[in-house]
Amino acid sequence: MPKSLLLVMVQLLMTLSVTLAGQGYSTACPGGQIKSPNYPHNYDDNLNLHWTLTAPTDQRIILNFTKLPALECCCDFLKIYAGSTADHEPIATYCSDKEETLIASPGNALFVTFSSDETVSDSGFSATYFCLDCNKYLTNPTGDISSPLYPDNYINDASCSWLIEVPEGNQILLTFVRLELECDSDKVQVYDGKDDGADLIVDLCTYPSENALLSSSNTLYVTFTSDSSTTYPGFLATYTEYTCGDVLTDSSGSFTSPNYPGNYYSNLNCEWTIRVQENCVVLLNVIYVDTECEWDELKAYDGSNSDCSLLGSFCDNYPQTVQSTSNTMYLTFNPDDSGVGRGFQVLYSTKCPTASPPVTNVYPKIGTYPKIGTHPKIGILPKIGSIVHKLIDFKKSLLFHKK
Ligand SMILES: *[C@@H]1O[C@H](CO)[C@@H](O)[C@H](O)[C@H]1NC(C)=O
Repeated sequence: MPKSLLLVMVQLLMTLSVTLAGQGYSTACPGGQIKSPNYPHNYDDNLNLHWTLTAPTDQRIILNFTKLPALECCCDFLKIYAGSTADHEPIATYCSDKEETLIASPGNALFVTFSSDETVSDSGFSATYFCLDCNKYLTNPTGDISSPLYPDNYINDASCSWLIEVPEGNQILLTFVRLELECDSDKVQVYDGKDDGADLIVDLCTYPSENALLSSSNTLYVTFTSDSSTTYPGFLATYTEYTCGDVLTDSSGSFTSPNYPGNYYSNLNCEWTIRVQENCVVLLNVIYVDTECEWDELKAYDGSNSDCSLLGSFCDNYPQTVQSTSNTMYLTFNPDDSGVGRGFQVLYSTKCPTASPPVTNVYPKIGTYPKIGTHPKIGILPKIGSIVHKLIDFKKSLLFHKK
């Protein structure tokens, strides 16, 4: 056999073996692994392998070496390029003085080469890879959002966005659980709408004292950006579809502004309907209120909607009591987008026509009413309250009689 043919056959065999080692072209989603041949045992001499990883446009590829590659540093190389071929800029070279175990592609492709010379080898490398899609459109009623790779440190040059949309008429409550970024260059921004053209609600690099915020309508847009150096754990937030208020039909109860006794949220849109037993009325007792006067007042209406007459408007005046003329009271609390306070706490109860039946049904005619001391029923009435009521009724009836 001619030497050249032998060489061709050897090369063919080598190509076959390196293909088996995983070399080639892969879609980086939903993830996989690349490693040096024989890993964790020593790789062969004279290798010249390459892998191309690609992700859909707008996604990035994360390459995760569980430990730093072990190579013959003078002469064997693992190189990672910022695109789909070696024509792109190298972003990591092993061994070199700056070595990372986590590589994020700047774009949607990575090209990896591994070459060994004719002598000396080591255990090589093994890495997992996956796609990172950090632009999301979320429509579930609740969910989480977090910086890429959270709770591990986020990646450099990140540019992520989340558009949250819930059914029209609802709002979105976003609550930060953790937020730790490199201030001045990395940030989380929240916009009150569909994109970054909407009003900016917050721009954060540290955990905010008011850790929850509310959209004014049914969409919220969140962005996370990082610069090309220094990373931190990042952020985690939860969101939930939000409606505020209630329909209350118990004969008494209480409610507060959202998040009470913490500050209420801006942009709230709350309404409460209190509906009690017919023929009775609602007594509302504002036991505490601290809201922005003029802008964020709690309003109580005499009926089932805000077209009914206003019974009271509360911002700093408490305690106070108002009473409806029918069995329904309607309350609204619609803070504007700035300035908050602790909110309010109210109690309500039902006031019905006096519990004791009309005088004429129980008592004999006024003229024949016996003296109190001799009233046969007084001694056996079980409840003090009802005695007092009856005495009052009795006195009233006497007064009436005198006129
Ligand atoms: C990288 O791999 C290690 C070991 O499997 C794992 O613990 C770590 O979470 C991975 N990092 C990322 C960002 O996937």
